[in-house]
Amino acid sequence: MTEVDAGRWWGLLGDRVRGELVDVRTMADGASGSAVYGLTVVEPAGEFVLKVASQPWLRERARRELTFYRELASHGPVLVPEFLMGGEADGSTYLLLTAAGLPTEAERWSKQRWIELATELGWLHREQVLALAIDRGATGLEPASAEKLAAGEHAWRELGYERLLAPLWANFEALDAAIRELPACLCHGDCHLGNLLTDPADRFVWIDWQEVHVGHGPGDLALLWHRAEVDGVNPPREAMLTAYAVARGIPDDVILRRAAVAAELTLVMLEWPTFFPYLPEPARARIRNRLERLVPAWRR
Ligand SMILES: Nc1ncnc2c1ncn2[C@@H]1O[C@H](COP(=O)(O)OP(=O)(O)OP(=O)(O)O)[C@@H](O)[C@H]1O
Ligand SMILES: [Mg+2]
Repeated sequence: MTEVDAGRWWGLLGDRVRGELVDVRTMADGASGSAVYGLTVVEPAGEFVLKVASQPWLRERARRELTFYRELASHGPVLVPEFLMGGEADGSTYLLLTAAGLPTEAERWSKQRWIELATELGWLHREQVLALAIDRGATGLEPASAEKLAAGEHAWRELGYERLLAPLWANFEALDAAIRELPACLCHGDCHLGNLLTDPADRFVWIDWQEVHVGHGPGDLALLWHRAEVDGVNPPREAMLTAYAVARGIPDDVILRRAAVAAELTLVMLEWPTFFPYLPEPARARIRNRLERLVPAWRR
């Protein structure tokens, strides 16, 4: 999709939007995901974001995000962009939101800023949100397939981690069981800093709800930490876990800590090998170092 297409989309929305489109910026080109455009409109003035999913394999995720904005967004405990409209048109699923802030820059964050973020995540994971989400149709994800496990095991073996990881692969269900010790909750599902904006009042705005699902929570923390670490940023995990537990209304105890270790291990063992070819060596080394610390923490 091109910027011309974004203009065409604005026309397609017809009477339901007001104003003349004067500028279009590509925010994500749609090569590997949805196409995302920033739109500037005059008379009346407005800044919008149009997200369009055209490939068949994206439509389900796009529909999940649309359902989130329609059914849940305005009831949730975290700030999200205002949903203007969305639906199916022209063989695509589209979403029109207000432009809600700028990308977050975590390099210079204070410890307190990280704690604020962990607190908001804890609010999202509270049981009251889950009750509403289930009522509005939120569902869980499929468990990782046998092929995915085999691919992860193969990749880490190639990297020389056969001995370290063999006991974990042999009892992979134990990781899942530790995560399930926590109560169920509504998870963001793609919780990394690239999906977090900062608004003019310096508040967090949570975006990109394509992976929202019912889970148990620590996967959101694990992804947040790992993606930050890959970028060379070091989040204060301990303090975040404590703030998270308080905000979520669960004990800050060994069950939570073990679930967090299990979620990190699951992420490293199953997801990271796929992305290694695209990462510079220092980033890969940070993930390997983390793995080497997680395994003994899990065995303790
Ligand atoms: N409502 C919004 N206000 C301001 N910027 C936005 C908004 N929605 C999206 N963006 C910008 O567009 C980018 C891509 O949007 P989004 O994360 O929703 O799509 P995506 O398909 O996940 O793209 P990517 O794979 O690049 O993350 C965001 O990282 C953000 O910079
Ligand atoms: Mg995104």
